[in-house]
Amino acid sequence: MKWTSLNDLREQYLSFFEKKGHLRLNSFSLVPDNDKSLLLINSGMAPMKKYFTGEVIPPRNRVTTCQKCIRTPDLERVGYTARHGTYFEMLGNFSFGDYFKNEAIPWAWEFLTEELEIPKELLWPSVYEEDDEAYAIWRDVIGVPEERIVKLGKEDNFWEHGTGPCGPCSEIYFDRGEKYGCGSKDCKPGCDCDRYMEIWNNVFSQFNNMGDGTYTELEHKNIDTGMGLERLACVIQGVDNMFEVDTVRKILDKVCEISGKKYGTDKNVDISIRAITDHARASTFMISDGIIPSNEGRGYVLRRLIRRASRHGKLIGISRPFLQELILTVIEENKAGYPELYDKKELIKKVISNEEASFSKTIDQGLNILSELMKNGGTLSGEDAFKLYDTYGFPIDLTKDILSEKGMDVDEDGFNELMKIQREKARSSRKASDGES
Ligand code: ALA
Repeated sequence: MKWTSLNDLREQYLSFFEKKGHLRLNSFSLVPDNDKSLLLINSGMAPMKKYFTGEVIPPRNRVTTCQKCIRTPDLERVGYTARHGTYFEMLGNFSFGDYFKNEAIPWAWEFLTEELEIPKELLWPSVYEEDDEAYAIWRDVIGVPEERIVKLGKEDNFWEHGTGPCGPCSEIYFDRGEKYGCGSKDCKPGCDCDRYMEIWNNVFSQFNNMGDGTYTELEHKNIDTGMGLERLACVIQGVDNMFEVDTVRKILDKVCEISGKKYGTDKNVDISIRAITDHARASTFMISDGIIPSNEGRGYVLRRLIRRASRHGKLIGISRPFLQELILTVIEENKAGYPELYDKKELIKKVISNEEASFSKTIDQGLNILSELMKNGGTLSGEDAFKLYDTYGFPIDLTKDILSEKGMDVDEDGFNELMKIQREKARSSRKASDGES
């Protein structure tokens, strides 16, 4: 394996699939177009659902992309581990009723083992337990020994995300070595430990999840693949996690430079450095796709990210606004793949610094109040959490984050109840003023 930068890996993948007849498309926006089932694009296939279902004719029946993605279910874990993040890029090759398993599997293998020269014995395929066809391709066409092909159930090897096209899948795992393992004799892909890292997912997209618990057969069979670019870079660069990948590490180093802190010397400082690094990446791309901070939907996700980053900045002793400086490094590191970031630099700077400034007006007061309240220990009341939100701009997950650092929690039901009342009041006053005009 030859060390390759993240930007070069992206290019290598896309041009490999261009040579296999695919049309290269730019990443779609993070903002879904006409898809109410998603707040933000979370996989390569998500913006192309209509090509899979046949509702819209694709520009070509095989395409390849590197898609910007955001996944937020673990937002509160980001920083605490080196595994969690919100923003990532997903490489994908897609077939809309064109090629199927017989091509997708050998091409994935060719790319990994010939183009990237990953040693074959470190790769373990998995297949859906009832998919004898995929199993036979791995065994008979590719020649992977049976003991290295793992059959897994629906939980692992049936891909679906919200409504829309879905199907059984075949994944490729990379063996990171015993030092990451749990030591069990039975340790193999599917084990909960860190030894086998899933790098590539080939979905044989044949069904449509209608969103009401039913599935229909799609008109034609498709291929939907996904490979996390940062994960692939971890393998090729021989690093432990995405924060060590070249372009991400540059952003992390900038956080260290701004704060005067060193990464890897203090556990709590590392948490903050990682959270800021991830959130700066995510915020930069969200703003470049036209999202602005607000109290609802996507805008609220952005607000949570910026405010969480801002608070972690404080925690590691940064006493001035710093995000607008940091995003310049994010832009610099990503402009090879996303030149539009450069053109939108001023807008991104403005949006992020406005949000940081408005939070910095209240964050100190809010933090003081919260630390007073925390002296009582136990559970923070819903009213207090609501006051922190309403008056001091603390998103609930930020309050939860701070509490959990001291082993405390919050009455979330009480908080949600007050939020509901506030929304209802806002709605009725809007109606009243609409009536007047
Ligand atoms: N859509 C599949 C995934 O995101 C490839 O893993």
